[in-house]
Amino acid sequence: MDMANSSEFSTIDAQFYQRADEFFPAHRNLALTYDDLSLATLYSEVLPRDTQLDTTLAEGLNLNIPVISSDMDTVTEASMATAMALNGALGLIHYNMPEKQQLSEVSRVKNHVHGLIQDPIKVWPDQLIGDVLRVIDERRFAFSTFPVVDASGKLLGLLSSHVVKPRYAKRKVGEALTPRSQVHTIPHKELGSNPIARADKFFNDHPGIHKLLVVDADDQLRGLFTMSDIERINQERGAQFKPARDAHFRLICGAAVSATRNAFGELDRERILTHAGALVERGLDVIAVSTAHGHSKGVGQTVKMIRDAFPKLPIIAGNVTSASAVEYLADCGANAIKVGQGPGSICTTRVVAGVGIPQLTALYVTSRAAAKKGVTIIADGGITKSGDIVKALTLAQAVLCGGLFAGSPEAPGQIMEINGKLYKQYRGMGSLAAMKAGSAARYGHATAGASKVAPEGIEALKEASGSIDAVLTQLIGGIQSGMGYLGAANLAQLREKARYIRVSPAGMREAAAHDIVEIKTGN
Ligand code: XMP
Repeated sequence: MDMANSSEFSTIDAQFYQRADEFFPAHRNLALTYDDLSLATLYSEVLPRDTQLDTTLAEGLNLNIPVISSDMDTVTEASMATAMALNGALGLIHYNMPEKQQLSEVSRVKNHVHGLIQDPIKVWPDQLIGDVLRVIDERRFAFSTFPVVDASGKLLGLLSSHVVKPRYAKRKVGEALTPRSQVHTIPHKELGSNPIARADKFFNDHPGIHKLLVVDADDQLRGLFTMSDIERINQERGAQFKPARDAHFRLICGAAVSATRNAFGELDRERILTHAGALVERGLDVIAVSTAHGHSKGVGQTVKMIRDAFPKLPIIAGNVTSASAVEYLADCGANAIKVGQGPGSICTTRVVAGVGIPQLTALYVTSRAAAKKGVTIIADGGITKSGDIVKALTLAQAVLCGGLFAGSPEAPGQIMEINGKLYKQYRGMGSLAAMKAGSAARYGHATAGASKVAPEGIEALKEASGSIDAVLTQLIGGIQSGMGYLGAANLAQLREKARYIRVSPAGMREAAAHDIVEIKTGN
């Protein structure tokens, strides 16, 4: 068969499998979401593993994979944002915390030295070994060697795993530690421009030593290298998706802010700009003006204010589901628009307020306005599987996920055990508990009266999952597979080539595993 012909789209196919600009207008009376449609396979010369997933959300904001973690208080703080950036993605630090704390979360990501654990778990000399064992058990640590510090953070020694045993439970840490004089350390300022290579050399030069502590000039503990981390990093050097970094080789990080109002109900201009300025000073790469109703005067004015004060700072704004909202926020100065009202797994906006648009129709409508305005869109909420991401990326430049990441160890909060299963808390930012903790402003309610307002989100649990590395590996595999089926070598081709067809309820059932006795899930 002639190669050129085999890649052409048959006129028969074209009657059934339609381009976005035919398919969505043809379904203008029916709002559609992920499970309502499927993508047609197309002639392919592209192997999944060769597909490129990089995306540009704004000038100066490039991701190596098109995934963002939600600005929610059970999803993204520094360790999630760090893990996302290390995988080539982005995390948006939530704002349900004091502004000062948000600044230090951003700093932790920006100052992250790959391989250096900056805030290692420490123990104190008057603790009992039994207490340490209990903490290891409760918090499920996979390690049992700890730096010992005094109340000011000064290094006193190392508690080695050889002594963290029930036999020594009644002894104090101070009696059992390896003293400071025998602990291997390196001054922070000697780490140089390639800390990994420096630590790697140290472990080569000191056979049998697996931990290297980093201290400052006052002998305050500044971090910890472990040999196994360094070995893993060296193995990962050849990875296809590189960490997402800024021009100074620091990991990228985003943070969300709200349209904060003062006691008189007016936008608190000074507070918003002072905080935005402090975030920029810490090296923030993108600010997200994040609210449930982005097509509103307060959000528009906030975006405009930040745009005027920081002309080069990439701004994400949302959430919206209409073309006019995209135009409005783009005109105010936003670069990337967050799309989604009510699709989230913990959202009840559509139930409570009767408002919102199923996600794929919302993405189509907004994507067409965004293209005209030269801005990008981010598909926010409702994504439960990699196939949803592929569908979202046929219209949007990136996806934003909460629930998919909330069960991982990098999400804030402790693991809890219920009937032998492990869970983590996951709650909507419009839930009563989150609003009480401060996000009421985002939903247009006053914090003080949170118990009197109608919540638009629920409190839930997610089953504990693997690490973000493991979760993203699965998701990326799925995205690449989808691109391979469509013959799309990169995300622009995916958007260009996608052909859609509506799926019946029976078709939807057919798509998932069925008529079998499941003995092992995909996870
Ligand atoms: P997923 O489906 O990824 O959704 O868990 C995460 C997204 O949901 C939005 N969000 C909310 N929406 N009420 C809502 O209507 C809420 O309480 C709420 N909390 C978060 C948000 O856009 C997030 O990224």
